[in-house]
Amino acid sequence: MIGHHRLAALLSAAAALLPSASAAAVASPASSELVERTLIPLPCYIFGPTVSPWWLKLCKPHLDLVVIDLRSADEYAANHIPGSFSLPFEPVSAWSNMGPGDLLLEMPPSADIFATLGSIGVSNPNPATKVVLVNGVGNPAFPQAASPRVATTLKYAGISEGRVSVLDGGFPAWLSEGYPVTTAVPTPTPRTYTATEDRSFLVNISYVAERINKKHQHIYIIDGRDEAVYNGTILEEWADKPGHIPSAVNLPAKYVWNPDGSWKSPLELLAQLRSKVGYGVSRSYGEIIVYCGVGGYASTWYFVLTRILGFDNVKMYDGSAQEWSKYYDMEL
Ligand SMILES: *[C@@H]1O[C@H](CO)[C@@H](O)[C@H](O)[C@H]1NC(C)=O
Ligand SMILES: *[C@@H]1O[C@H](CO)[C@@H](O)[C@H](O)[C@H]1NC(C)=O
Repeated sequence: MIGHHRLAALLSAAAALLPSASAAAVASPASSELVERTLIPLPCYIFGPTVSPWWLKLCKPHLDLVVIDLRSADEYAANHIPGSFSLPFEPVSAWSNMGPGDLLLEMPPSADIFATLGSIGVSNPNPATKVVLVNGVGNPAFPQAASPRVATTLKYAGISEGRVSVLDGGFPAWLSEGYPVTTAVPTPTPRTYTATEDRSFLVNISYVAERINKKHQHIYIIDGRDEAVYNGTILEEWADKPGHIPSAVNLPAKYVWNPDGSWKSPLELLAQLRSKVGYGVSRSYGEIIVYCGVGGYASTWYFVLTRILGFDNVKMYDGSAQEWSKYYDMEL
């Protein structure tokens, strides 16, 4: 048994090894920054593809976080997370634009998105600035799909992927925790945003046409639309023909979320992937091309594969079925 005086000596020896915030605080006023840094709660050093409402509430005061609410302007006006900025996700908005030949939901001109991001205080290149995306939840899952779509737009806008995260369960999850909401609109501090657009993960129609029927070469095409759209029972308004790109497998994006809009676990998501592509592709061999109707659900699977499951051999076909069906046959 350790005597009291020995225990006290051990404790003070241990204390001497730890940085002392209070000692630093009295040392000089210049050390106040140091004090702030040493007080960042440990969970705030972990910034994965998704963050919980608890994490956001805990860490927002400690980090250089820009929280962007993607819901409609009306929803934002009714109430929102304190300090969050409104940039609604809509087919023609800051986040996306019409492409050549009237393609819906293509990446916007990069100069425009750079200017928008700078205006709400996203600084780039500055590895400390991080972005948290807040979506609504609905059925069909279009509101949920806004966040991964915007995450891919931010990648295109040159923000490294490790700096973008999605609030798990969206705004309803924040509400259900009973956390504070407000109608107050924050005033952004504009910052400099400089980047080079990143199209490395985006592929065009000829790239896809060269890769159909290539499963034997470990090249898989994933269709993120609902089953009945994939099999041609339903023809969406933006496609010219029913069915899917030849040899594509169907992984409906709606199944990546639980009914409450939270993300399914990595193991469940990996099981979904394996159920359709088997072991024909992995992180180290082969390639996956994701597409959907116009590019929303394609971004969902892009996000799941690259951010949650760690694949780096994934391409996104932004033209998707709307473009493919104008020029090529669909398979039924
Ligand atoms: C499509 O992408 C390929 C690279 O994968 C490029 O060589 C080709 O020029 C592009 N085609 C068009 C029409 O942009
Ligand atoms: C297409 O998918 C829908 C929804 O799963 C299903 O009800 C229908 O039977 C399928 N049709 C064909 C031809 O496979």
